[in-house]
Amino acid sequence: MVCLSRFFLSTRSDFLEVAVSAAEAPSLRHILSIESIGRAGILDILGRSEEFRLRQEDQSTLLGKVLGLLVLQPSTRTRVGFHAAMARLGGAAIDVARTKFQNGMTASESLIDTIRSISTYFDCLVLRHGSAEDFRSAVGVSKVPVINAGCGNESHPTQALIDIFSIQRHFGRLEGLRIGIVGDIGYSRCSRSLIQALAYFPPRELRLMAPSGREHLDESPGEWGCTEISRLNELVVEGLDVLYVAGLPEGLGEARLDEPVRERFRLTKSRAEKLPVGALVLSPLPRIDEIDDDVDELAVAGYFSQSQEGLFVRCAILEHAMGVSGSDRFRGK
Ligand code: CP
Repeated sequence: MVCLSRFFLSTRSDFLEVAVSAAEAPSLRHILSIESIGRAGILDILGRSEEFRLRQEDQSTLLGKVLGLLVLQPSTRTRVGFHAAMARLGGAAIDVARTKFQNGMTASESLIDTIRSISTYFDCLVLRHGSAEDFRSAVGVSKVPVINAGCGNESHPTQALIDIFSIQRHFGRLEGLRIGIVGDIGYSRCSRSLIQALAYFPPRELRLMAPSGREHLDESPGEWGCTEISRLNELVVEGLDVLYVAGLPEGLGEARLDEPVRERFRLTKSRAEKLPVGALVLSPLPRIDEIDDDVDELAVAGYFSQSQEGLFVRCAILEHAMGVSGSDRFRGK
């Protein structure tokens, strides 16, 4: 039994300093990290997401608002999901990356100058960037709230909100569960942000399963809750309530994971059948070969429902960032 630390509050202080100072700017409601949202903010967003799921709300709360999508790495769910969520709430979205950063553009302009030039065209920006440093610089010059849609390998807080929404939906609670995370944990921004979110809702067990050299690197003893933590070099699913399949990117050169390693961490049907009845398998997707296709038919397979429910969470996130809500929950905060 090991006491979990407040994982990232010390180790990711560079990011958080920027996040916090930007978040303190008047009227900007950036969503940059799980910490910048906080436990109360997370619960508000989850509650509002559930309202959207139940469809009891006016769906035009962002009528007249315009969202800019600066998604500068490949993305399907996040890019299309925020676009669709904006449309569902009566607003408009413009895919900036498509017009600005495609091959064949003539003059190249820095990301910073681009954001300086156009951020005021929008009410909010969704930003994904492969470089955490460039991401931070971009946030620093934005005149409108920025939603982190993936920052280097550091964080992906909106995905974590979707993850915990699915967990809460399935179990009716977040705390006290036995949660396993499998994959390239050390380099997975989804895993990092999920672990940050779980810090607010301590699990009974946290089982981190990663290939050698890909383990989670940042935790140290600290103050939040007491959770049984184990680190394994293989996939062991027995006893888990939630298995989060974070993924194993194909990678190149030294980052490449050979087939025997991939096989050791793959969720096959026979492995999935060892999960307890009522367990839940989640994944941010996309999958390469981390989950066999025939797992999809099992009752534990929750990853496509999770993706679908992501729309409700993104609706709630957009309202939160723009300070608008049909339920008045966020107004005046
Ligand atoms: N989960 C996720 O971030 O998916 P995309 O890369 O398709 O946006």
